[in-house]
Amino acid sequence: MKVTVRQLLDASPTISVGILTADLLRLGSELAIIEQAGATVVHVDVMDAVFCPQLTVGPPIIKVIPDCFVKDCHLMIDDPLSKVEAYVAAGAGIITCHVESTRHPHRLLQALSDTGVVRGIALNPGTPLEMLAPLINDLELILLLAINPGWSGQTFLPGTERRIADARKLIGNRDIILGVDGGVTKSNIGDVASLGADLIVSGSAIYDGAATLDNARFMLKKVRQEHARVTS
Ligand code: DX5
Ligand code: ZN
Repeated sequence: MKVTVRQLLDASPTISVGILTADLLRLGSELAIIEQAGATVVHVDVMDAVFCPQLTVGPPIIKVIPDCFVKDCHLMIDDPLSKVEAYVAAGAGIITCHVESTRHPHRLLQALSDTGVVRGIALNPGTPLEMLAPLINDLELILLLAINPGWSGQTFLPGTERRIADARKLIGNRDIILGVDGGVTKSNIGDVASLGADLIVSGSAIYDGAATLDNARFMLKKVRQEHARVTS
């Protein structure tokens, strides 16, 4: 389903559940579990075996994800400008492209305006935040990768804490969502939330092949506690 920047900011911090380690042959029932836990945002890692070594899923899978979820599409693909339309048509609620993947990040944001999709730009851990400065008035979401893209289950890079603080400064009082993706586990979700992330991606810590429902409930409880703390 569609979502507005305002709705995401009002719900901050919230979880976007990464499905890369879910059982993709049983995706419907895997999604039903996180829905039961109260998750509303699903993070789809799209990799094209060019920008990223792996090849994952694309518009046909995004299309069949139930519309009760906000479909948060993280495009780790080359030349996204020529491909984003298919993701809009597949029902994306959020589309985030890497600044490293396109020569035309500004044109990309322009192409996504008036689509009703929340427009995001992602940064690899080695990319300076300054890349965002010329785009800041045209983007709606910044996604900081806390790992190098390509695989689930990596360790949260410690430099990310500083980058979250710097991104917060860059955002100032603008209505921009700050997302953090990679290496978020039960042990560090509380810290990541209190550092000021609005949208926290968590994949393998939820879809661990054993206790998805409990994991999702735990992670959601943690962000709700932080939401209660910042809004009280
Ligand atoms: C990595 C992806 C991440 C990743 C998250 O390229 O962008 O979304 O799958 O997985 P975990 O939560 O396991 O680090
Ligand atoms: Zn991702």
